[in-house]
Amino acid sequence: MTIALLGTGLLGRAIAERLQLAGHCVTVYNRTTAKAIPLQACGITVVTRPEQAMAHADCVVLMLADAAAIHAVLLTEASLAILRGKTVIQMGTIAQEESLAIQAEVERAGGFYCEAPVLGSLTEAKAGTLLVMVGGTKRQFNEWSPLLRSLSRKPCLIGPVGKAASLKLALNQLIAAEISAFALSLGLVQRAGVPVETFMAILRESALFAEAFDKKLPRLLTRDYHHPNFSTRHLLKDVELFLKEATGYKLTTRSLEGIKPVLEETIARGLGEDDYAALYETVNPKT
Ligand SMILES: NC(=O)c1ccc[n+]([C@@H]2O[C@H](COP(=O)([O-])OP(=O)(O)OC[C@H]3O[C@@H](n4cnc5c(N)ncnc54)[C@H](OP(=O)(O)O)[C@@H]3O)[C@@H](O)[C@H]2O)c1
Repeated sequence: MTIALLGTGLLGRAIAERLQLAGHCVTVYNRTTAKAIPLQACGITVVTRPEQAMAHADCVVLMLADAAAIHAVLLTEASLAILRGKTVIQMGTIAQEESLAIQAEVERAGGFYCEAPVLGSLTEAKAGTLLVMVGGTKRQFNEWSPLLRSLSRKPCLIGPVGKAASLKLALNQLIAAEISAFALSLGLVQRAGVPVETFMAILRESALFAEAFDKKLPRLLTRDYHHPNFSTRHLLKDVELFLKEATGYKLTTRSLEGIKPVLEETIARGLGEDDYAALYETVNPKT
């Protein structure tokens, strides 16, 4: 399959490598070309315009930061002009209403659109074990299954466009809730002089435990947030998207509203591009 992948940030790079290794023919475009160049080493073609990547592609995979980035890369006159007959598979995390609006523009240009946001990060992308949630038709799901199965053991059709976007936000709300709750309890335990291993041993045996705690613990203990899997900036984006959608449904969102300023302060500390575990610096600042 010939694939154009637009956006080789943290996750886009890992997905491009995985798709190429799985035998697809991948051409990538990234706004900052230099970040994509290392992909040439695994046989991936790097181009400097999105239209060049899309020209001969069976489908266009989007791994861009947000809806604004999608507008800047895909919904330009030059890109829209060659979308006729092509399928766009949007894999970043955006809101339901954003996904529906992008679908409308792609279809107006004669293209096809489905969404396939993912849960998991760089390790899972490289191993082909992402959890891929598809919003689209059954026909699209079947047509693009060979591609999706290169990234996921069991891609899942959630419903029409928009449903997978909402589901992805619901899951990312849990990321924000879990890391902020874990950071706060860890901070208390450390300041109260309870051994961290005792805390973790009890927690691991309990129904409260989440694997994410063990994954993030080394970063929190060493206060090292470099080489991020997922940035603080993007977690804040997802919190804001969730709040907007949930408020529309008249849900009470005060717990998540409390996490938002914690993320904002973490970004103000210069940790926006670091791993989101960096919110520990705001929850439990160095004394
Ligand atoms: N990282 C993860 O573990 C993970 C997991 C699941 C979902 N996601 C979602 O997947 C998406 C990508 O995540 P990521 O971690 O790969 O993010 P990232 O490293 O920040 O990469 C973002 C990509 O978007 C491009 N971009 C941003 N603004 C742009 C603009 N205005 N015009 C053109 N291009 C623009 C960047 O280009 P430059 O390189 O030129 O800046 C880069 O290619 C996000 O929606 C994120 O929430 C990430």
